[in-house]
Amino acid sequence: RAESRGDAEPHVRIVTGHVVTPLRGSPDGILDLERGAVALRDGRILAVGEAEEVLDRYPGASVDRQGERLLVPGFVDCHVHFPQMTMIASPGLQLLEWLENYTFPAEARFADRAHCEEVAEFFADQLVAHGVTTACVYATVHPGSAEALFRSALARDLRVITGKVCMDRNAPEHLLDTPERAYEQSLELLEAWHGRGRLEYAVTPRFAPTSSPRQLELLGRLTAEHPDVVVQTHLAENRAECDWVGELFPEDRDYTAVYERHGLVRRRSVFGHAIHLSDGELERLGAAQASLAHCPTSNLFLGSGHFELQRARRHRGLRVGLGSDVGGGTSLSPLASLNEAYKVSRMVGEPVDAFQALRLATLDGAEALGLEDRVGSLEAGKDADLVVLDPRSSPVLRHRAGYAGSTAELLFALMMLGDDRSVHATYVSGRRSVPEGREGCGP
Ligand code: GUN
Ligand code: ZN
Repeated sequence: RAESRGDAEPHVRIVTGHVVTPLRGSPDGILDLERGAVALRDGRILAVGEAEEVLDRYPGASVDRQGERLLVPGFVDCHVHFPQMTMIASPGLQLLEWLENYTFPAEARFADRAHCEEVAEFFADQLVAHGVTTACVYATVHPGSAEALFRSALARDLRVITGKVCMDRNAPEHLLDTPERAYEQSLELLEAWHGRGRLEYAVTPRFAPTSSPRQLELLGRLTAEHPDVVVQTHLAENRAECDWVGELFPEDRDYTAVYERHGLVRRRSVFGHAIHLSDGELERLGAAQASLAHCPTSNLFLGSGHFELQRARRHRGLRVGLGSDVGGGTSLSPLASLNEAYKVSRMVGEPVDAFQALRLATLDGAEALGLEDRVGSLEAGKDADLVVLDPRSSPVLRHRAGYAGSTAELLFALMMLGDDRSVHATYVSGRRSVPEGREGCGP
């Protein structure tokens, strides 16, 4: 009889473990089930609950028992540059010199298709290995770079939003497009890839200094013609950058106004860094329902400044997600980003707790990208993206975890001490992937 009941539910897979997930509906809602389970079918979450109940409900399911490991939602990286994997951890300079000396030379190599493919494949594998199942990604100015990443993401069913970078001034000649080419190439990519599988297009002016007013105008037009796409760019990351924008756009009252005037500030506009903003600018960004990507490892690495997370959050309508900003950032691991986000939150006097931090790397990010109906929490109906975190993945972490008195303590220790080595497995759209060397480890 058990077998025949099993035949009735052939595609259900149950992962058991310690379920920890933010929940939609209340800003600090959390589900914490020590003996929990997540049932998956056809790339979607079917049920989340006490393991005993879920196992009873789907007796024919295949079961992946993860014991005391944590089951958390797939992480969301709201701001990352895949071409910069090739120059991550290049030290010593502030933003504008760092762009000149490291970033632009590295991005120039993406004129070569084979290079695009090789780096896109590596990056997509590393997203999975770091537990990142949704990412909003910059390519380079070359359309082939965005294409390569779309292909690599599609093959793994990752939820990737990306676009070709647009820049027509203040960068090396061979990295420039024109206003018209930026519009046409972006449109062509958008039409080819937006909505295919879990892929979406992001209109991507690099930042105000590298786009002429005409280019911003045309990209604003493209965005108005395709209101459902994401817009991504950088905003107020560095003091020298802000001064430069003041010189380049003297008619605008502040940096945010440059993007506003060109129709680039709206729901699903994702502004990287956004450190040096007035309350007035934050207010306007919130009123437009725009989003910010907090990129703490990058902000510290490049000496850009301390983002005030709680201050930003007090502005109604403003959404804030977490970004690695690799290669300005130094790790693809959201755990590593949360480590530094915590320390920055201490520096600015408003520390985040473990559950707020988990939410920042998951559901807040999903909201920032306008994807809260699809990803960001373990809830029935959402995409089957989840990460199995191992609190015993290093000797110190194992030792510390043994003394943890609560889920919050355990989670916090994982954030301070963990990285991709703590990712035991990642489920991407229901497909289980185990990083090299982890297969065969017992629960
Ligand atoms: N501002 C403009 N381009 C970039 C970039 O590639 N990285 C960072 N961190 N900031 C930028
Ligand atoms: Zn960036």
